[in-house]
Amino acid sequence: MCIILINELISIMIESIQKKEKKIAVLGLGYVGLPLALEFAKKYSVIGFDINQSRIELLHQSIDPSEELDSEDFLHTDIVFTSSPEDLQDVEVFIVTVPTPIDEHNIPDLTPLLSATGTIGKVLSKGNYVIYESTVYPGATEEDCVPIIEELSGLKMGKDFKVGYSPERINPGDKVRTLPNILKIVSGNDDEALENIADLYGSIVRAGIHKASSIKVAEAAKIIENTQRDVNIALMNELSMLFNKIGINTFEVLEAAATKWNFYNVTPGLVGGHCIGVDPYYLTYKAQQLKHHAQIIASGRAINDDMPIYLAKKIIKEINNAGKVLKYARVLILGATFKENVSDIRNSKIFDTVNELKSYGIEVDVVDPHASKIDVKKNYNHDLSREPHGKYDAMVLAVKHNEFCDLPLSYFEHISQKPLVFFDLKGIYRNTFNDHIYFSL
Ligand SMILES: NC(=O)c1ccc[n+]([C@@H]2O[C@H](COP(=O)([O-])OP(=O)(O)OC[C@H]3O[C@@H](n4cnc5c(N)ncnc54)[C@H](O)[C@@H]3O)[C@@H](O)[C@H]2O)c1
Repeated sequence: MCIILINELISIMIESIQKKEKKIAVLGLGYVGLPLALEFAKKYSVIGFDINQSRIELLHQSIDPSEELDSEDFLHTDIVFTSSPEDLQDVEVFIVTVPTPIDEHNIPDLTPLLSATGTIGKVLSKGNYVIYESTVYPGATEEDCVPIIEELSGLKMGKDFKVGYSPERINPGDKVRTLPNILKIVSGNDDEALENIADLYGSIVRAGIHKASSIKVAEAAKIIENTQRDVNIALMNELSMLFNKIGINTFEVLEAAATKWNFYNVTPGLVGGHCIGVDPYYLTYKAQQLKHHAQIIASGRAINDDMPIYLAKKIIKEINNAGKVLKYARVLILGATFKENVSDIRNSKIFDTVNELKSYGIEVDVVDPHASKIDVKKNYNHDLSREPHGKYDAMVLAVKHNEFCDLPLSYFEHISQKPLVFFDLKGIYRNTFNDHIYFSL
């Protein structure tokens, strides 16, 4: 009887969001949190909370620090941006979208997640919902976060408040697959929570809702999406090393193999960014806790993490073979971001290559039209160049930014010492450098 009353109370509370008597708070306004907060704010009253004060100041000016959204995306929204926990008043639904990084030993660093959870625990009221969107290993929501909320609030999950997990699938730089256009997985600590959370997200997501059978299932679903991709890229990287020894081009092999209807077409490359290179470590950590050695996942990570050094060794070998002196050599790297046409440099692996080359005394220029010079200096202690200057002993196309895709051969010939040595990680200049030294993954 008591549970029924609480559940009725919770349904009423969801209604109160629709009537704008109560609010939704989104904690963490980065790549994931900001689009989500603004989408909800088209319909409901939203509080956008972030501990980064300078980010909040930019948001007040309708500027997205992640450079994904335009100022028009802030129009016609009912949202207050704040970094004061005291502003988390009249909130009914808390949504957590803070980072879930790894530390220097590749162990999950739950500090932001647990800190945001603590913020919520201090202001939580009966009938509230807490929904996690940050990518975590199965069990993190219920085993790591809920106990903190219960301790700080003195309330009990299920009886007093509800919890859910709904992973985010947006892809930075993708203007087509945006939040309303991506099918959303939702989960809840009980049926009532599941239905209400499904209704809430269903009101902003046009692509549909998948109701997962439990919070752990939803957590696992997200983490294996990225793990599957990581392992498949690792396979392609391994094949690339092998095909290089055999003397055949990986991209040509893939083109041929992809003519089969069920061939999963993934290309080799450096795996950086906040998700694919990080999330599998959450799963290997969980596996380790359960005394299970996740062999394939761990091998995939090891291969992908080694790729920047493999690349550096190749560059050094080719410079040497071309009869050039390493300590006087100059290398141009085109692209600093972790993927094409975005400014995101988080966990960009090319700087591992850069540092390895520098350790041989090689001068390295990194050019990127999208990345911030300040951020690159701060994160990688490297001075980004806006344009190539002078002549180079080797050139590396690292990122497929549009600006780098259609450059004529004469351009590269003009900025190269002889012989011209070109490393094409993306395989886009195949058949262009026929009279030069060309290498692709
Ligand atoms: N970036 C993506 O494309 C993507 C896609 C799917 C899932 N995810 C997952 O979503 C989560 C968020 O990723 P992101 O890319 O948006 O991160 P982000 O770094 O862009 O943004 C996170 C924000 O959270 C803020 N923050 C940190 N600690 C906080 C706290 N205690 N309270 C309030 N705010 C806090 C930071 O200041 C930052 O503004 C991660 O778990 C990530 O794995 C990201």
